[in-house]
Amino acid sequence: MITARMEKELNAQIKAEYESAFIYMSMAAWAHKHAYFGTANFMWKQAKEEEEHAMKFVDYLKDVDGNIEIPGLAKPEGSFKSLLDIFEKGLEHEKYITSRIHNLVTIADEDGDYATSDFLQWYVSEQVEEERNFRDIVKMLKMVSDHANGIMMIDSKLGAR
Ligand SMILES: [Fe+2]
Ligand SMILES: [Fe+2]
Repeated sequence: MITARMEKELNAQIKAEYESAFIYMSMAAWAHKHAYFGTANFMWKQAKEEEEHAMKFVDYLKDVDGNIEIPGLAKPEGSFKSLLDIFEKGLEHEKYITSRIHNLVTIADEDGDYATSDFLQWYVSEQVEEERNFRDIVKMLKMVSDHANGIMMIDSKLGAR
């Protein structure tokens, strides 16, 4: 049994995870158009993972007999300045998602909701990985600056994901 506010917050997180998927799909489309095929591949896969994150919340709400609300989503930003711009925005977005997850854990603690707290621990660890992945790529892109060779090398590395 979850509290009404936790049910509301978990539904809000389903929306946030789908928004993440939309943002990364938009980045993938931009990257493809600009022939950054490695980044496009990385972002399509990232979007798939975000959908999986959303579905884990859906499944959890089923487990605890909560109401599931399918969210409406806003159109994501579609134009970017560079690969660095994409990955900096990705990192900022992941930090935002981390803060949301931490807020959910705080609510679970306040509600004495041990089951949801336990369920959320997977996301706490996942967010460490998510931020790390984006941060590493931002660092590499900053290192090569605007040198085309370096950018293409990083892009092709991202194609191997
Ligand atoms: Fe996620
Ligand atoms: Fe993520």
